[in-house]
Amino acid sequence: MSIAPRPPIPSLIPESAPFSPEQRTWLSGLFAGMISLEESVTPLSNEQAAKLLPDLLDRGAGAEADDGAPWHDPAMPLSDRMKLADGKPLPRRMMAAMAQQDCSQCGYNCKDYAEALFTKKELRLNLCVPGGKDTARTLKTLYAELGAPQPAAADAAPVAAPASAPGRSRDNPVYATFLSRRRLNKEGSAKETWHIEFDLADSGLDYVVGDSFGVYPVNDGALVDAVIAALEAQADFPIGGRTLREVLTDGVSLSPAPDMLFQLISYITGGERKKKAQALAAGQDPDGDAATLDVLAALHKFPGIRPDPEAFIESLDPLQPRVYSISSSLKLNPGRVSLTVDAVRYEVERRTRLGVASTFLAGRVKPGDKIRVYVQKAQHFALPADPGKPIIMIGPGTGLAPFRAFLQERQATDAPGPNWLYFGHQRSDYDFFYEDELKEMRKSGLLTRLTLAWSRDGDEKIYVQHRMRDDGRDIWEWLSKGAHIYVCGDALRMAKDVERALIDVVAEHGKRSPEDAARYVAELKKNDRYQADVY
Ligand SMILES: Cc1cc2nc3c(=O)[nH]c(=O)nc-3n(C[C@H](O)[C@H](O)[C@H](O)COP(=O)(O)OP(=O)(O)OC[C@H]3O[C@@H](n4cnc5c(N)ncnc54)[C@H](O)[C@@H]3O)c2cc1C
Ligand SMILES: NC(=O)c1ccc[n+]([C@@H]2O[C@H](COP(=O)([O-])OP(=O)(O)OC[C@H]3O[C@@H](n4cnc5c(N)ncnc54)[C@H](OP(=O)(O)O)[C@@H]3O)[C@@H](O)[C@H]2O)c1
Repeated sequence: MSIAPRPPIPSLIPESAPFSPEQRTWLSGLFAGMISLEESVTPLSNEQAAKLLPDLLDRGAGAEADDGAPWHDPAMPLSDRMKLADGKPLPRRMMAAMAQQDCSQCGYNCKDYAEALFTKKELRLNLCVPGGKDTARTLKTLYAELGAPQPAAADAAPVAAPASAPGRSRDNPVYATFLSRRRLNKEGSAKETWHIEFDLADSGLDYVVGDSFGVYPVNDGALVDAVIAALEAQADFPIGGRTLREVLTDGVSLSPAPDMLFQLISYITGGERKKKAQALAAGQDPDGDAATLDVLAALHKFPGIRPDPEAFIESLDPLQPRVYSISSSLKLNPGRVSLTVDAVRYEVERRTRLGVASTFLAGRVKPGDKIRVYVQKAQHFALPADPGKPIIMIGPGTGLAPFRAFLQERQATDAPGPNWLYFGHQRSDYDFFYEDELKEMRKSGLLTRLTLAWSRDGDEKIYVQHRMRDDGRDIWEWLSKGAHIYVCGDALRMAKDVERALIDVVAEHGKRSPEDAARYVAELKKNDRYQADVY
């Protein structure tokens, strides 16, 4: 999608006013959102600016709290989110451009990433992995309103040295040793999901259940070779002290072809091909195939262009880490961490496209390999502080991951609280992850209830939320006893449907109007009794 650029925000705060550059930018942005900005607005005097500061900050915070961020819904299309944020201060519109998952893959939540961009503490506009190219493009347009030139790729590194301890953020990874993988589906399943283990002994890392694990992947070697062949370049072409092949292997993303690549192609082609490349660089779709163009497909679309390898690398996005919910407790697995990873593979034009990180973990990484990792601390996704509280966990598919960790933790700490798990997947004979463990936990009493939903066992799709509705009375009873409820897995459909089912359960069994039931669930969220880890 493209949005009309607005004029840059003129600095209304004089350079000599007693504010840091961040405060000055922030205040100007605040003005832009609060007053109708006209070309003729005169900058304030130092005295006026100083006088206004407390009031402006109050009004800014109030406006933010009041707006309720109605676009903060990962299931809402970008164009709708931008409409809802229209007229808001720039940081709010920047926030609306993010994928709204608060997934922390960028190192922030959506609101903080937006504010970091706005105050220029962060220069990288392409960190929102789930938002992909659409988010990066929209941010680029919004960034222009700041009146600053778009950061060059070379500048787009963290401005300050990483503030975090080693291994505690994407900007400061450490090495951990890959130990093993084991397939969780039986032969014949339509899915390919893996139990993955790492040794943390040399990494100095620890974690708590609920945290996620960040992994820097390595591109598929065959894909790298195909890109080098399409470039008609030498694999050992030197680039910044490394070879072209090395940089293509672990330095740059070979997934969606970025606008910059099409821009580069437009510079070195002519005629129709130039026009097409220009259109693609501008986010248009002249041949109806834009969504399928990864870097290799883009090179194949413009054969024989032979770009300079260094300029080609410059035009690509950096290879970003991916995060995975931790599926183990350190208390039961000292020095180890496990993940539960669904391998992303799909076919486009007779070529199998590979999810870079999931297929790296599912196949390319070998036992003993050291890979760059970090622990991403959970924000609002944790066991209750009181171990006696009941918990209800809803985790279809890989959504089971953090709940396996929760259960291990409750086992290791002899937590007396009852535990209820909803797990669902396609077919009971093939996709029952950790079946033996879960049955053992049920037998030992650790799992008070285990409710299963198989979507492809029969003619009718049975999803976890259908089971929740069946169990409504008991869910309501658990909630009345102070249960904490958790959901993990697909953000786009499942998490929304589960929330809808929970509201319906509260309305029916708590004898409330739909509005009061929604308020009850909102209150659960506010009190951290309804927590989500969705992606
Ligand atoms: C907090 C958090 C926790 C997570 N936990 C887990 C977890 O426990 N387990 C897990 O498996 N994942 C988890 N994920 C997702 C994970 O981070 C990655 O997004 C996922 O593994 C895909 O990454 P990838 O690099 O393999 O794929 P990428 O290279 O990023 O490719 C994925 C992209 O491919 C495209 N795509 C995928 N399928 C198709 C298709 N059929 N047709 C067309 N295009 C398609 C989509 O654009 C998709 O965004 C989590 C994410 C977050 C944010
Ligand atoms: N970014 C990525 O590329 C990426 C990678 C991996 C996972 N994910 C996301 O994470 C999710 C988890 O993937 P996964 O492989 O573990 O499992 P999944 O695909 O979510 O499937 C798990 C179970 O959930 C069911 N389901 C489908 N729609 C549902 C809904 N609206 N409500 C409740 N259940 C529903 C599925 O049924 P049916 O299949 O029969 O409909 C299946 O039985 C994916 O859906 C995907 O959105 C994203």
